[in-house]
Amino acid sequence: MPRTIYILNGPNLNLLGRRQPEIYGHDTLDDVARRCAETGAGQGLETLLLQSNHEGQIVDWIHEARDAAAGIIINPGALTHYSIAVLDALNTFDGPVIEVHISQVHKRESFRHHSYVSLRADAVMAGFGVHGYVLAMRHMGHLLAG
Ligand code: DQA
Repeated sequence: MPRTIYILNGPNLNLLGRRQPEIYGHDTLDDVARRCAETGAGQGLETLLLQSNHEGQIVDWIHEARDAAAGIIINPGALTHYSIAVLDALNTFDGPVIEVHISQVHKRESFRHHSYVSLRADAVMAGFGVHGYVLAMRHMGHLLAG
């Protein structure tokens, strides 16, 4: 059984730390990758953080995760709200899936209130800032420990 957790990030999250810091904070995706790796190390889990601005690449990584990952943590960015393709791909994955949003999406525009990914996610984190990724990693450890 693979002990790697895929941490997938969708469009615009490459700009984390520079993009609307009043909403998303000043930490970068590299900071997130480091903190998740540290958290995973304490749980016997490896992490692979990936980001793409392209829906098809996210779908391809989810397919890859079917054989390579024990769990998926995903912040799909705007794809959350419209991508049935990402939902369909996640539905082919057998392990735990945790959806993360840095911002509290339910306090924002109404188009951010609906998530296709939530139809598959085993847990959803929203509004914890980038700490939400670390909390998701901890919960992933619990889920995989059974
Ligand atoms: C986001 C929320 C989405 O609505 C938005 O499109 C993003 C980031 C978040 O992390 O808060 O790109 O997923």
